[in-house]
Amino acid sequence: MESGFSHVSVLLREAVDALAVKPDGVYLDCTAGGGGHSEAIARRLTTGHLISLDRDADAVRAAGARLAPYGERCRVIQANFADAGDVLADLGIRELDGATADLGVSSYQLDHAERGFSYMADAPLDMRMDRDHTALTAREIVNTYSEEELADLIFRWGEERFARRIAAAIVREREKEEITGTLRLAEIVKNAVPAAARAGGHHPAKRTFQAIRIEVNSEIRILEPSIRTVVGLLAPGGRISVITVPSLEDRAVKETFADLASGCTCPPDFPVCVCGRRPQIRILNKKPILPSEEETEANPRARSAKLRAAEKL
Ligand SMILES: C[S@@+](CC[C@H](N)C(=O)[O-])C[C@H]1O[C@@H](n2cnc3c(N)ncnc32)[C@H](O)[C@@H]1O
Ligand SMILES: [Zn+2]
Repeated sequence: MESGFSHVSVLLREAVDALAVKPDGVYLDCTAGGGGHSEAIARRLTTGHLISLDRDADAVRAAGARLAPYGERCRVIQANFADAGDVLADLGIRELDGATADLGVSSYQLDHAERGFSYMADAPLDMRMDRDHTALTAREIVNTYSEEELADLIFRWGEERFARRIAAAIVREREKEEITGTLRLAEIVKNAVPAAARAGGHHPAKRTFQAIRIEVNSEIRILEPSIRTVVGLLAPGGRISVITVPSLEDRAVKETFADLASGCTCPPDFPVCVCGRRPQIRILNKKPILPSEEETEANPRARSAKLRAAEKL
């Protein structure tokens, strides 16, 4: 287990059930990870096809090995799902029967300290999911962004109310010596947060690490355009399901779905529609689907996961 790519899949059955997989359909897994969701889809296919993407070369290897028994009908490709349109076009695929995404980091990425995602083990500040194509690292952000930029990103992507104090502390500390390791950063954040706010709950560095990781990997910025691309590729009746963890990620998915599901935006007193907008999807669950109690007990990382699903009209 330890040396392999293991990811405890979250909301697996729910996300795959939401796709109502057709045995002869064509499916896209935007975030292959350890291949858990991909394999659950693969198992439901007979003559159908599955394309699984991940930006992380380690994940591509792991999911590739896991899907090998399914042969050529299931392929794993290293790509950002923001480029799904081009990747599928290159494969000659013009339409999908379903697509799923399980956003964020995998437990593998967190557990492999050398990737620099974790505030629990010492490692160089990296946090790149795709080390082959991303130049910006956490170390560069922490040591070169202005105090204001740091405060803004920690507030925005970390939803951290002590963002200003944390940014000030980072700038103060980096003047003494460049901040290169995860534990030093975690310590700086911890000391910047008022002691009262530290009692109970998450590790005080959790939100700051999340924020920097999101910045390194442009995770939120690419969401809306990527979802629009994937929805554009769905055949009528095709399904999309998306799992998120931080609430700002869920908000982005919710708002994009709501916009795609809304039709005409003309003022009600217009005699005829001039905007020409038609709804593209039907939302399958008004409220997000949450993990069962059994699942959150067995896997605390599942606690804040949410699933949203929609059907192409
Ligand atoms: C939560 S894990 C997926 C786990 C997977 N569902 C499983 O069952 O093992 C998220 C994965 O998405 C990948 N990822 C995140 N953003 C991505 C993007 N924009 N394009 C492609 N892969 C991405 C990460 O590298 C990570 O491996
Ligand atoms: Zn209109």
